[in-house]
Amino acid sequence: MARSITQTGTTHYEVQKKRRAAKVEQSRQHRTAVIRTSDVVLEDNPSRRMRRGIYLGADGPHPTHVLDAAVHEVSPGITSSIHRHSWDAIMWVIEGTGWTEIDGQRVEWRPWDTVYLPRWAWHRSGTDGDKPARYLTWSVEPMYETFGLAVLEDAGDEPFAQLPPAPRSTAPDDAGPDSYGRRMRRLAAAYSPATAHRLITKWEDVNPRVTKRGARSMFLVDETIGYRTSGLTAVMHELGPGLWQAKHRHGGEAYLYVVSGRGHTEIDGVDHPWSAGDLVVVNHWCWHQHINDDTENSARLIRVHNVDALYDLMQILLDPMQLIEEEPDLADAPDLTGYRWPDPMAGRPAF
Ligand SMILES: [Fe+2]
Ligand SMILES: [Fe+2]
Repeated sequence: MARSITQTGTTHYEVQKKRRAAKVEQSRQHRTAVIRTSDVVLEDNPSRRMRRGIYLGADGPHPTHVLDAAVHEVSPGITSSIHRHSWDAIMWVIEGTGWTEIDGQRVEWRPWDTVYLPRWAWHRSGTDGDKPARYLTWSVEPMYETFGLAVLEDAGDEPFAQLPPAPRSTAPDDAGPDSYGRRMRRLAAAYSPATAHRLITKWEDVNPRVTKRGARSMFLVDETIGYRTSGLTAVMHELGPGLWQAKHRHGGEAYLYVVSGRGHTEIDGVDHPWSAGDLVVVNHWCWHQHINDDTENSARLIRVHNVDALYDLMQILLDPMQLIEEEPDLADAPDLTGYRWPDPMAGRPAF
């Protein structure tokens, strides 16, 4: 009778445990709460012809796993190189006027407009004014890199018409009624060209709504206003003078870019002050609450995360665990009775 031989060396169990612990430890070392705008270094790239500064992501001091965030600056009269990537991204214009061509379609933008860059869409940007333009981007490149799917192609000054189209699934006429044929048809049907996507939210078109958590919110990129993304969403939250958003916790990564105002975010009992241009990072299952410290003016923050894909999936995979926790009945939300919100246009930079 054959007998199995017991190995006393390191088994896959120890190997995996060690490997996972090392990954968590590494990510803990990069934890941060607020990235100051003054700590973001703009670097010039001669071939891209733009300056880029990293808030969060592998090319800066704070590597991440799902989202990255960067600021970009385009000089007056300059057009960037044309490039595309396998991941999608959101652009938000801080200042200046300009345009972005997305798969040949020109989108004109002004301060506080939001542009959506679909995956695999060739794009380049330029400014027409006599001042530089600056915009922020958030993307899911780190997540795509984790899956081995991050591809970036820069085509320099090649005209769009000569560039290859986005890769897509094929479904020949004789694909067949079997499972392979069904898969081909299903995947081919899921394709939509970049120009069929909603590509811009003009600031003047935003629709403010007061939420139960106590902030006024405006969707910038979301399924409910016609976007179809990899799961990326962007919403601007506005906190009334001296007010706050109800405390809650969830996994990461969620970033909040401070558009205007000054305040602090309490993370697990520690206060982290912020002001315009900073990026607040809340993740890793910590209790957090955003508080406006200005008793005269509201504060505006843009929240971006990938919950619509990643959290939806995690919620299913970890059911019955709850992945978002808040106080029962949002008992700590501020009372907004009688408060009159400012005109959404107030504070928008001139153009
Ligand atoms: Fe890009
Ligand atoms: Fe949150």
